[in-house]
Formats: sequence, C-alpha cells, structure tokens
Amino acid sequence: MIKELLNKLTLEEKIGQLIQVDPSVYDISEETELFGVSDDTYYVKKDRYLYGSILGINNKNHAIRIQRQYLENSKHKIPLLFMSDVIHGCHTIFPIPLAQAASFNRSLVRKAAEIAAKEAASSGIHVTFSPMVDVTRDIRWGRVTEGYGEDAYLTGEMGYELVKGYQGDFSNENVAACLKHFAGYGAPDAGRDYNEVTLSKETFFNYYMPAYAKTLEANPQLVMTSFNTLFGIPATANKYLLRDILRGQYKFNGVIISDFASTANMISHKYADSSLSAAIKSIKAGLDIDMMSDVYSKHLYHAAEKDPSILKLIDEATLNVLKIKEKLGLFKDPYRGLVEDNQSPQFYDDGTNLELAIESVVLLKNNNLPLKNEKVYLMGEYADSRRTNGSWSWVGGHISNNKTLKEIFPNQTSYEAADVIIYCFGEGERESGESQSKTNPSVKQKDVNQLKQLHEDGKKVIGVVYSGRPLILTEVETYLDSIVFAFYLGNQMSEAIKRLLLGEVNFSGRLPISIPLNVGQIPMYYGQFSTSRPRNTDDLTEQYVSNYKDSPNTPLYYFGDGLSYSEVKYHSLTLNKTTLSEGETVKLSVKLENLSNIFTKEVVQVYINDLFSEIVRPKMELVLFEKVSLNPKQTLVMELELKYESFMYKDGNNENKLEEGPIEIMIGSPRKIFLQETIEIL
Ligand code: BGC
Repeated sequence: MIKELLNKLTLEEKIGQLIQVDPSVYDISEETELFGVSDDTYYVKKDRYLYGSILGINNKNHAIRIQRQYLENSKHKIPLLFMSDVIHGCHTIFPIPLAQAASFNRSLVRKAAEIAAKEAASSGIHVTFSPMVDVTRDIRWGRVTEGYGEDAYLTGEMGYELVKGYQGDFSNENVAACLKHFAGYGAPDAGRDYNEVTLSKETFFNYYMPAYAKTLEANPQLVMTSFNTLFGIPATANKYLLRDILRGQYKFNGVIISDFASTANMISHKYADSSLSAAIKSIKAGLDIDMMSDVYSKHLYHAAEKDPSILKLIDEATLNVLKIKEKLGLFKDPYRGLVEDNQSPQFYDDGTNLELAIESVVLLKNNNLPLKNEKVYLMGEYADSRRTNGSWSWVGGHISNNKTLKEIFPNQTSYEAADVIIYCFGEGERESGESQSKTNPSVKQKDVNQLKQLHEDGKKVIGVVYSGRPLILTEVETYLDSIVFAFYLGNQMSEAIKRLLLGEVNFSGRLPISIPLNVGQIPMYYGQFSTSRPRNTDDLTEQYVSNYKDSPNTPLYYFGDGLSYSEVKYHSLTLNKTTLSEGETVKLSVKLENLSNIFTKEVVQVYINDLFSEIVRPKMELVLFEKVSLNPKQTLVMELELKYESFMYKDGNNENKLEEGPIEIMIGSPRKIFLQETIEIL
C-alpha cells in the first residue's frame, strides 16, 4: 500500500514528505517553544499541504486541528507526523536523564518511558526526540544533563530501555523513539556545544558507538544526525556514518532526520557552498527529513533536476517516512483515537516517578545522615524553589504542583536553634542543557563563601546539590558533613530528598559520571589507559611519569561512587571456567551480604581489564551491572553471565577483535575493586 502510494506522488509531493516545519506554518496560533532560531522564510507557504511532519506540538486539540486542516487541504491525505522533545517525561516530569542513569535501574527507567509515551500520545505526539545516547566525558558540555554519562555500556543499556518503553508495540499509547545525535555529539572539543569532534576511529568505535549500537538493538524508528563534524565531515552529510555504518553495518532501516537546521549549518561549516549543494550532499549521504531549514524545501527539487541519480534516493527517503506513518497506524486513524475536548492533560504516573527519583540521588559523603530528631534549618538558593524539573520539561513543565523542600520538611527551626543546616545549592535548572557550556563547572563563589562561613560558625551542614551536570565540589567538600548529589529530579524532587534525608528510604544511586577534582583534569573519566609511563606513587614531584605537578590524577568522586545507609560485603567470586573461547559464556557467582539492619539496593558492577591487546585498551571497562535488592542481614548468591562478546573490542573499521591471553574480571567500582579473577581467552 505504501509503495502504491509512493508511485502516485509527484516529485514535489515526495519531497514534501521530507520536510519538517513548525506549527505556525498552519496559521494556528498557539504557544510552542522551539529550541533554535527560525523565521518564516525557511519554507514555501504554497507547499505547506505537501509537508510531512511537524516539530514541537504539546497539545492534543492543537494537533487535531492542524491534522484536520491539513487533511482537508491535501490531495493524497497522507497524515502529518507530529514530533516533539519528550525527554524526561511529558506532563509528569521525571528525573533528568543523567539522574536516571544514576539509578542504574533498567526497569524503572523503562517504566518512566512508558508513562512518558502514554502522556505524549494522549497529547497528539507521535515521535519523541529521545533518547540522547551521546556519551560525554566533558562536564563543561551543558548537554551532559540530557545523556546518561561517561560510559558507553551504561548509556546503551539506558537507551535500550527507553526505546522499548516508548515504542512498546506501537499501540495508540506509544510513540516512536528517535535516537540522537548521530554521532559523537557528546565529545565536542573543549566541551563547547556544536564544536568540532576530533575522535579517532578507534576511540569512537570503542567508547562512543557502543551506546548507539545497543540502543539500535531496541529498534528506534528514527535516528537524528548531530550538529558536529566527525572524521572531518558534518554528521548530517556524512555518508560514511549514515550509509556505511548506520544503514550498512547496523542495518538501520528507519528514518534519518537532521537536527534543527543542521543541513543549512553545513554552509557555516564550509562544507557546502550553497543550500543547493547542502541538499545534494545530505540526500546522497542518506538524510531523509530536513528539520526546520530551507535546504530541502527550496532546493531538493533543483538538486534532482541537476542530478537525476537523486530521484531514486528521494523515493527511498519518502518510503521511509511513509513506513513510520503506517507503523503508527496513521493511515487508519490520523488522530490515533484522540478527540477534541476540554479536558486538561492526562497524568499517568503510578508512583514510578517518586521511586525513580529516590533511586537517582547519589550520597557522596556521610557523617550525619539519616536525620533522627534533629532540628533543621534550610537555606541556600534552592531550599524554597519549585523549579526542580530540570531543562527539557517544556512540554508539560508544570511546577505549580511541585513542592519546595522547605514546604514539606519536618522539624524546622530558626538558624540559631538548628542542630543541622540543610544547604541547597548548585546550578539552576536551565544552566545546563543545549548551548549551556561553561569553562568552569564549579560551585558558585557565593556558595563557597557561605559554606565556609557556616563551617567557621561550627555548624553541621548537609549539602544538597541541585544541578543538571556534575559540579566540581572540591572547594566546599571539607565544609560539608554530608553531600547529597540530587541532580534535578522532576515533580517529586523534594519528596524524594526528604525521605532520603530522614532515612525513610535508603540511598542506592551511583554516579554515572566522574566528578573531577579541578577543571584542569577535564576530560575526566574512569576508562583511562595505563599510558607509557604510569604514575607509580602519589608524589607529585615524581619526574617523567604521566602526572600533573599541581594535582593528583584521580577525580574527587569516581564513576560508580555512591553510599547507602547500609553496608554490603562481597565474598567468594568464582568463575565456572578458567578459559573462554568464541561462542562461549562464562558464569560468575558472587556472594553479597547485607551487614545492616535495613533494606538496601546494591549496584553490582563488573569491569574487565584486558592485559594485552593489539589496540591498547583502558585499565577498566564496565561490561555488566545489576541492581539487586537485599533485605536486612540477607546473604544472596548472585549468578552473572559474560559472553565472549563482552570481552571484545573494536578496531578502526568497527570490526570485533579479541586476542588470546588473560583478562581480569573485577567486581567493585573504579574507586575500589572488591574481588577479582582472571580468565584466559583462547
Ligand atoms: C536539539 C535536538 C532537538 C531539536 C528539536 C535541537 O536544537 O539539538 O536535540 O531534538 O532541537 O527540538
């Protein structure tokens, strides 16, 4: 049916399907927020009933009215596809993605995505521009907030769950997912947004691509290209990335969409000398939809006239777009069961939000938690703030129902009478996100001064960090008795923090990204190499080794760090074999003992260290994690499995490699390995 439809379309009608515009094109004035600069010269008004998709809808009635108007005026009645950024919730706002990663909880992350999808679908949205699985090792980059941290394995696991959660079985309660931003967007030079990316192929394929690859296994229907160049070519027209890697090696057969005008941006990159050349380069590279630019809307037709080989590519791209419309059931029901009414937006949270918020918080230091009957005084910029949603909560950025920590915290008293100060500080919710790069992601001077003063006054202080990105805490660390890294947790932030501080629930979050000791260490990440001249001691004066003369090499807090109110002991790691050949699996067994009297959730982290390889590998690579519940005093034997593939790495052509020899298997975290065994690869 789709192919027959394609055959009926003229060239203009086909190209129309490849163009994405904003709702104002249909003259229905409603509020939408666009995350880029646009005016009304990027599209051709007379062609608007040919266009295929819309960016930035968040209102059901609005969507229905545009769809109706469009269908009444269009010849072939091909429904419009509505796409929006539902990043960490639609009406219910969940923790920011970086915080969700800290939960290390696959099933909660998936549930949150299911709820987000249901709310988005009920608002007329068909596609969400999520998940963003751009690995980043540079906390200066503001969009670190929207990803899942520094590790490709963790990021890929999260991306996979999100796509499954959003897409379900493509019912009317689901939305299609768009993996973004392909590729390497999380590694801009010097952490400056949109800057060049200068990764080697070995680095890209081993430490960035696996996150996209795992997410692709969940079958997202779309992939968005990135603003940056990779291997010298803007991603949006990078044939090697899009046709060879994505479509060729990973068999991706969905829609490839540009990022906001990233086609037109190729002129600024000096990769295209005109919009016409940008159109030719993009379609040849495999780009299907052009988001918010004049490149396809004004130039693809001329490109096809100039170069008839493009006609076939336009057919392929159009078919990709029509396939998604069919998959989402739009040809059968362009409204996906929605009707216009006066109801307010639907909230479908079933308690998942609070659970996820609780598991997303990371306890970094603890000398005075949980609170018992202490009298507290709350201070700091965020103590009485409802702005707890985090960036990217525009679709349903309701804060009126959010509570401030001050509004709900018990046992409050005056400053003088307080036993403990709860100091809420960090960065505003919009200080991270797109185009929010900073050279110095550290605690603000006013907070340093204030915390120093509290310390000098002999106060006991619990620091609660509100931030979309990791913040360098070195200057205030000694002034704080306890440190709670809370990120931005959405609607349930205050409730989650309250319960955690009071010990009503246990902490179980772990850092998905390292927190450097100072700016000069950036990029800081656990997966470092041992280098030609490894540092041997902590002595900074040591010469001719890989160290700094003014700083240790180690971060303030490591990836994987996080305390709980309980202590779990690891014993008796055993492997069911000592050698491993291709096609085989090794079974690990490890005993966990909850030494405490309270329920806990433990994140069991498994790392490997390949002792010899043809391309040098890091000292530690996360290959598996499981979050496991332990009752008070419970001992549990965990069985884990690692396939031969988990030990492999990639060469510069993205081919799998693994040589014979020993590989260490380690359980613990980059800060401390508890148990270790070696397996011999045959
Ligand atoms: C962002 C994308 C986003 C798009 C549409 C761009 O500026 O980079 O991640 O999906 O806008 O809002």
